[in-house]
Amino acid sequence: MISTQTPKHSASAEDYLRYTSERVNAALEKLLPAESDPPGELHKAERYSMFAGGKRLRPALCIGAFEACGGAGDSVLSAACALEMVHTFSLIHDDLPCMDDDDLRRGRPTNHKVFGEAMAVLAGDALLVQAFELVAATGNASCVQTLAQSLGSQGMLGGQVVDILSEGKAVDLATVDYIHRHKTAALIAGSLVMGAQMANAPENVVDGLREFGYKIGLGFQIVDDCLDLEQTTEVLGKDAGSDLENGKATYPSLIGLEASKRRAHELIETAITDLHALPLQGAVQGTVLETVARYIFTRVH
Ligand code: IPE
Ligand code: IPE
Ligand code: MG
Ligand code: MG
Ligand code: MG
Repeated sequence: MISTQTPKHSASAEDYLRYTSERVNAALEKLLPAESDPPGELHKAERYSMFAGGKRLRPALCIGAFEACGGAGDSVLSAACALEMVHTFSLIHDDLPCMDDDDLRRGRPTNHKVFGEAMAVLAGDALLVQAFELVAATGNASCVQTLAQSLGSQGMLGGQVVDILSEGKAVDLATVDYIHRHKTAALIAGSLVMGAQMANAPENVVDGLREFGYKIGLGFQIVDDCLDLEQTTEVLGKDAGSDLENGKATYPSLIGLEASKRRAHELIETAITDLHALPLQGAVQGTVLETVARYIFTRVH
């Protein structure tokens, strides 16, 4: 049974993620082509990674921002589903042998391990393309632009480029910040901005939510770096220790685990303070974003 009721403002992050996941998963189930539709192998590969059990954090932030800006109803779901599609595309490609060369994702063998490299590249491409089709169909041109900017060379792709070029090199903290802001924070900020844009929020609110997103997004990637070192493969559902193996430029490799955690915590708390200064539709709605932001720090996978 899918709950359509917005949880109370006192809901835990887990409750809010469950509520948004249920809505998004039901919509994705209808939107993604069936495995029986040709080319079946491609659709199977897409669905394999899409329904492997991700946290659905980006859709939750998008829906949270939409509701915080006074939006109601299902019009935000196209943007929320598109965000999960492009995020999943980024994971499928990130795991490829030519990138991070990982074997496990979302608790399952990586897409290329099951379907082969060619199909994994194509499944990622298909998800990316369908995401743009979905957002374009909303008629909200600003949203299409936000998605493109979050992913392009000034966004996620730029970060992935420097991430790869920095492997095995001694880089400074400014470079790691660049990598993290681009490969991860740009899409997290874009998720909040798209939610606000779907609710036709004023420019100052859109800008404030973008800044909030960049801060929690950087915090998110710092926590991801820490979990890669501290957590088990079983709990992560992806290969623990992958960063060390690949000589990745990470926060803990530069400033150590404890200082990295302090930095992530500080970023998230500053972001929350700034969030409360924004003219959102009542403090209640800001609280959901606050709760989800804090979960970024306390999560175990
Ligand atoms: C993993 O993102 C990739 C990074 C940007 C670090 P998530 O931790 O949100 O992955 P899922 O969606 O829950 O699998
Ligand atoms: C991933 O960063 C950022 C993406 C754009 C996918 P990571 O390479 O650290 O993500 P994980 O640890 O494989 O999920
Ligand atoms: Mg990577
Ligand atoms: Mg990776
Ligand atoms: Mg990682």
